[in-house]
Formats: sequence, C-alpha cells, structure tokens
Amino acid sequence: MGLPRFVWQRAYETGIPEVDMQHRMLFDAINRLADILESGSTISLRDLNGSLAFLKYYAEWHFQREERIFEKRADDPKHPLLCANRRAHARFNSLAQEWYRRFLAMQRDGASPVQVRQFAQDLYYELIDWVENHVLQVDRRAAAVCAHCPLHQS
Ligand SMILES: [Fe+2]
Repeated sequence: MGLPRFVWQRAYETGIPEVDMQHRMLFDAINRLADILESGSTISLRDLNGSLAFLKYYAEWHFQREERIFEKRADDPKHPLLCANRRAHARFNSLAQEWYRRFLAMQRDGASPVQVRQFAQDLYYELIDWVENHVLQVDRRAAAVCAHCPLHQS
C-alpha cells in the first residue's frame, strides 16, 4: 500500500487565503516527500534538501505570519485558542530545529542509505501528524475566533 497523499479540500480552509495558501504548501511538501520515499531509488541527503528548507521556512516564517494574521483579526488577541496555537508553534519550532540539527549531523558525519530513508520516513510521519493534529484542528479553531471580526471578510 502506498503512502497517503494529502489532497486539499475546502473543509480544510481557515477562510484566510494567505494562511490557506501556506497550508497548501505544507501539503505539497508532504506529497513531495512521499514521492521521494516511493521513487524506488536510494535516497540521498541532497534529495531531502528541499524538504528541510521547507520545514525551516514553515516553522520560522509561516508560524510568525499566521500568528500575526490571527492576532490582527481577532477581537481578543489573547484568546485561549490563539495562545494554544502559539504554544503549539513554539513546540513544533523546537522539533523542526531538532530535525534540522539531525540533518546537518548526517551531512557532517555521513549516513547510510538505510539511515537516510528512515530519517525521511520519520519526517514524513511527523508532518502528517502535525497536519492532522494541528493544521486541521487547532488552526481551524483558532481562525474561527476571527470569524466575527470585520477584517475577516477582507
Ligand atoms: Fe497554527
């Protein structure tokens, strides 16, 4: 059985186009990683450069943007759901940095094809877990906090 791919659905939307576009980019990154894992050939660290670069962008840039957008649009920027979103981002940011450190260590010390494949597979499942438990849940609930703000319509 192949690895699942994520197909964007309207039900996943937060209703804020910029946030949705960035979430779609995460789906694309996961699907690309699945393609790499299923390509049938040996995976090199170089094949994973794009995935790691995306992870860095996502954890550093997207989180900041999303937090700012939600805070700007919410009636109460200190709403518990927005605080929970920020805490989850901080946790995932630490995780992403750990993934990056592991990647750099493998580049420095060398890694067997089995280790590289395992790394790619673990990253794939980590991202899927993030989508299912954060993007499709916390983000959508946090975005709903902004629903009554007039800016939400802009
Ligand atoms: Fe979020």
